[in-house]
Amino acid sequence: MIESNYREPVGRMNDTDALERLRRTSIACIVEHQHASGAFPAGPTFSQYGYSWLRDGTYIAYSLLLQGHAERCRHFIEWVARTVTRHAVKIERLPELLAGGPNVEKQAFLGARYTLDGEEDQTDWPNFQIDGYGSWLWLIDRYLQETGATMLPDTWTGPVQAVIHYLGMVWQLPNSDCWEEFADERHPATLACIGGGLQAISRWVGPTVQGESEQLASRIEQFLLDNRHPDGFFPKFLGSQTIDASLLWLGVPYGIIPLDNPSLVETITRIEHELLHDGGGVQRYPQDTYYGGGLWIPLAAFLGWYYLATDRPVDAQRQLEWIARQQTTGGLLPEQVLVHTNKPSMIGAWEERWGKVATPLLWSHAMFLILDFELSRYYS
Ligand code: BGC
Repeated sequence: MIESNYREPVGRMNDTDALERLRRTSIACIVEHQHASGAFPAGPTFSQYGYSWLRDGTYIAYSLLLQGHAERCRHFIEWVARTVTRHAVKIERLPELLAGGPNVEKQAFLGARYTLDGEEDQTDWPNFQIDGYGSWLWLIDRYLQETGATMLPDTWTGPVQAVIHYLGMVWQLPNSDCWEEFADERHPATLACIGGGLQAISRWVGPTVQGESEQLASRIEQFLLDNRHPDGFFPKFLGSQTIDASLLWLGVPYGIIPLDNPSLVETITRIEHELLHDGGGVQRYPQDTYYGGGLWIPLAAFLGWYYLATDRPVDAQRQLEWIARQQTTGGLLPEQVLVHTNKPSMIGAWEERWGKVATPLLWSHAMFLILDFELSRYYS
């Protein structure tokens, strides 16, 4: 009952019209909200999401790249490059701090999100997360390949090398996962972003840094394989008994584990059995209680993207159409929809704290556009 408040269904629109409209509103929404600096607020109308996350921003910028807005994608990449340079003193200080033992204060690390002007988030919201830096490296490779570039722009070299160096120092440290939780754990999905990013960027850097980043990517791959659950799947975090839908990233888009690896196949099968509902919509993990723990639009799109990579276009299309049916009457996508929640009693608690579920969420719009594009690329 409470849940139906969240769904402003698209009404009697058929699937084709719903898709068509969502393509238009998604591009418009993302373009409208890109800040002059190049950054994107995660959720422009949501109380807590005025920051620009490297994770969200990577997929948002990638969706624009696929839509022919390469200059907007570049603008975001350069915003991150400037932001890294601005805070590079943290990277310089880290070796000394880490030499003193692993209990370095969290503020000593680079942040996961920044204000649109590249300032640090000074609140006490956990901010040590490293997946976004790997994702950003991956985005640079995608940008350079899609635009037919032959080399890394000079001004990107310094920040790229700094990030590779940073990831080399921090990849084994516990840090918050991509949902900003479990700060004391180590997360295979995070490592997938880093390993995949390092692999992707290695073709664009000089021989020494190339060796460094390739070697690190191989170490991460081996580390992931060595830390599988005894039952053969990749766990939510090291030693955990459960899975998380972000583990899709091990296969797509980061490709750190081959798609036919039996452990990856087993992990995806578990995601489908435990987190996918009614053929569309994916929960984050079985114990999630954020707004009750509903079905996440970005995850439905990641699952669809994985389906395409494994030759299941019909299943991918089903996710796309499910997403299109979740748009509001104004053509906006939320972060999650509150059907099939794990803990309905938590919906009100989160509403009271932060307001209604973030709508629009730019990452949701971006993932819809990416899946839509990848589907048309699959059939072309
Ligand atoms: C999610 C993050 C996301 C952030 C901004 C959080 O609730 O857990 O994955 O980056 O919102 O969209």
